[in-house]
This record gives sequence, structure tokens and C-alpha cells, in this order.
Amino acid sequence: MKIGVLGTGRVGKVIGGKLVALGHDVMMGSRTADNPAAMAWATDHGAKQGTFADAAAHGELVFHCGKGEHALAIAMAARPGLAGKVLIDLTNPLDFSKGMPPTLSVCNDDSLGERLQAAMPEVKVVKTLNTLNCELMVAPGKLVEATTIFVSGDDLEAKAKVRALLTEGFGWRDVIDLGDITTARGVEMWLPLWIRLWGALGNADFNLRVVRAKP
Ligand SMILES: NC(=O)c1ccc[n+]([C@@H]2O[C@H](COP(=O)([O-])OP(=O)(O)OC[C@H]3O[C@@H](n4cnc5c(N)ncnc54)[C@H](OP(=O)(O)O)[C@@H]3O)[C@@H](O)[C@H]2O)c1
Repeated sequence: MKIGVLGTGRVGKVIGGKLVALGHDVMMGSRTADNPAAMAWATDHGAKQGTFADAAAHGELVFHCGKGEHALAIAMAARPGLAGKVLIDLTNPLDFSKGMPPTLSVCNDDSLGERLQAAMPEVKVVKTLNTLNCELMVAPGKLVEATTIFVSGDDLEAKAKVRALLTEGFGWRDVIDLGDITTARGVEMWLPLWIRLWGALGNADFNLRVVRAKP
């Protein structure tokens, strides 16, 4: 499948690299098409490189792995190529302007996922994977137990497509559909606790597991 990846940071590279390994035709997107570091990475890893708009136009499915504070601006740059498509939103609204730990720039009665969806009603936004370190997003089997991932979004068909990629592609076994895009609030507000766990545990190799009662 043709897949676009908005963002050439650590998350974009991990997602893009995994998608190439799965046999997908991947285009990475940056602010400029001639970003030397991004071009070199794409060449080395079997991906294409372009602008955010190029990557969106390329993908039948598009991942948003852009910086949280610029998530809307990145989506607006990509918007012409996103109409009618599924945008898989991995961003977190982290504000580092006052140092560590970061605060949330959007929270409580709003979320970045909702802002993206409200700004682009023609796009099917699905929030997922923002709740854990990027290395684990594509390799949940690195953890000693099966853990849980969430999806949020208004479009059931879009969520089904994302679930299929998460399970068949990335190896997730426990995917909980939280409901519409407003449920992105909860997964984004998990970040302050994630950051404190990171500090307490001394590494990022952990995730949530939702344990149910016996049937
Ligand atoms: N790190 C993790 O494990 C992790 C886990 C879960 C969720 N997340 C979330 O995933 C997202 C990506 O994280 P990351 O650490 O890989 O990358 P990042 O450094 O947060 O973002 C990199 C991308 O943002 C773009 N960008 C930077 N400044 C910009 C600006 N002023 N205007 C427009 N675009 C700009 C960059 O464009 P260029 O390509 O042009 O440089 C680049 O593509 C974030 O929202 C983060 O919160 C991260």
C-alpha cells in the first residue's frame, strides 16, 4: 500500500522504517522536499522523501508523526492531499516552553486529535499509538507481556483499517476502541503520568495493560 508519513523525527523514522519492512511504498514528509538529513535517511531505508503535501498526496493512508506544537500547521500543509483519507494521529500536545516536565498545551475538554478533526472534516482522523515509546509502537512483542493500545475516531471504517494495520502489521493483540475522537483527550492526558513513569523506571520500555475480570 502507498503510505505517507508526516514527520521525519524519531517517530516518523521508526514508523516509516517498519512500513517499508512490511513491503509498503512509503513517502516521508518534511517542511521542505530538499531536507538533506531526511533525504539521506529515506534513501538509506528504501523510502521516498518530499514535503508534507507530497507525502499526504502519495499515501492511501497517512501517519501524522509531527511535532505536537506544530501538529495543526503540518496538517494544514498536508491538507490538499488528505481529503477522504485516514490520518493516523500519533501526536502529543507537549509544551516544553517552561522546561521539564512538559505541560499539555491542549487538555481536559479538548485534544489535538479533536483539533485536527475539527480543522479538516473531510479527513478521517484516528488517534492511536501516542501512549507509548515509538520503538514499542511497531514492536509490542519487546515487552514481556501483551499490553494495550487504543484507537479513537469518528469513522468506524477508518478505525477498522487502522486496527488491521496495528494487529496484522505491527503485532498488537489488545486494541481497545475508546469511541469517537473526543476520547483522544484521555490518551493525550496519559502523557503526564507516562513522563513520570519514564523518570521513575529510568527507561521508556513500558506500556499500559488493561486487565479485565474473568468472564
Ligand atoms: N518520541 C516518542 O517515542 C513518541 C511517542 C509517542 C508520541 N510521540 C509524538 O510523536 C510526534 C513526533 O515526535 P518526534 O520526536 O519524532 O518528532 P518531533 O521532533 O516532535 O517532530 C519532528 C517533525 O516536526 C516537524 N517540525 C518541527 N518544527 C516544525 C515547525 N516549526 N513547523 C512545521 N513542522 C515542524 C519536523 O519537520 P522537518 O522534517 O521539516 O524537520 C519533523 O518532521 C510528537 O507529536 C510526539 O509528541 C512521540
